[in-house]
Amino acid sequence: MNPITNETNRMELTETLEQLKQDTLARLETAADLDALDAVESGAVGRESPIAAARRGLGQMEAEQRRDAGRMINEVAKEIEAAVAARREELAADARAATIASEAIDVTIDHISFPSGRIHVVQQVIDEVCDIFVGLGYHIAEGPEAETAWYNFDALNTPPNHPARLESDTMYVDYGKPEDEMLLRTHTSPVQARYMEQHKPPVYIVAPGKTYRNDTVDATHLPVFYQIEGLAVDESITFSDLKGTLAEFARQFFLPTTRVRLRPHFFPFTEPSAELDVSCFNCDGGESSCRVCKGVGWLEMLGCGMVDPRVFDAVGYDSSAVTGFAFGMGVERLAMARHGIDSIRHFIDNDVRFLEQFPG
Ligand code: PHE
Repeated sequence: MNPITNETNRMELTETLEQLKQDTLARLETAADLDALDAVESGAVGRESPIAAARRGLGQMEAEQRRDAGRMINEVAKEIEAAVAARREELAADARAATIASEAIDVTIDHISFPSGRIHVVQQVIDEVCDIFVGLGYHIAEGPEAETAWYNFDALNTPPNHPARLESDTMYVDYGKPEDEMLLRTHTSPVQARYMEQHKPPVYIVAPGKTYRNDTVDATHLPVFYQIEGLAVDESITFSDLKGTLAEFARQFFLPTTRVRLRPHFFPFTEPSAELDVSCFNCDGGESSCRVCKGVGWLEMLGCGMVDPRVFDAVGYDSSAVTGFAFGMGVERLAMARHGIDSIRHFIDNDVRFLEQFPG
């Protein structure tokens, strides 16, 4: 750049500086990041820049001209510095905004929940009943659901012509001799025979599990349902032990004040046999309008009796040395009584609105 020696030189400098300013402002505008901005800055006012060159030229000028030109150069340099600083602030703000946007957490988004399942109300009752008997010293036993006719009927003193063996009551898998004939067990009682064959007395077991009957579904029947079998075999077990044990169970399962009564009944594998009723836990036998017992005052709970000596003979026990009692209860019936459920179908409908009412 030429020294300012006259008006023409002065105008040239003015123009050059103005041109530099406009160029720089335009380039600042398009500088997309801080690196680009630094490049524009050093190109305009850095050591190799036109401004630096102009300043170097000041040395050759007269004092008055130097002041004049120096002031013009400084003014433009200051304007450029201010524009660079403003653009730097803008780019920094953009960068911050981009960081915030990329790290943002949307607190309004619905959380992703993994609903946890729960124990089915029927299984809850099984667990509770088994816990009560384990507390009384019983062990848990199990047996197969596909069972032989021998264990399901014959070992349990049920004669070949017994009506329960008809196809109208029992679902058969395979026909043949009692040892080969396969069926879906109609009760958990075959576990009694299987367990006694494998274990010497004393025996104190409960056996929960699935059972099958050729029944049509209605409010109180399902073709697949659950039972819990009980068996106690020892020296000198009496009918009083049966009643006392089941009374204790009823008090723990229902209420401490629950009473029991036994009604005579018949089962091929127990003698004598009975059905056990419990006093209604809702009205205690006091209300004719009770929705739980329908005014009867008692709820039918289970079948039971003293083990028939023929069952001991069938499994190889000495029937002159031991006595015992057995019982079998329907789990769905217990759950329905306990919770006031009006139809057994609810248990298998898989309606979560029903199931969620029993958190366990
Ligand atoms: N097995 C019988 C039933 O299913 C119940 C029962 C079990 C009765 C044990 C007496 C003894 O009805």
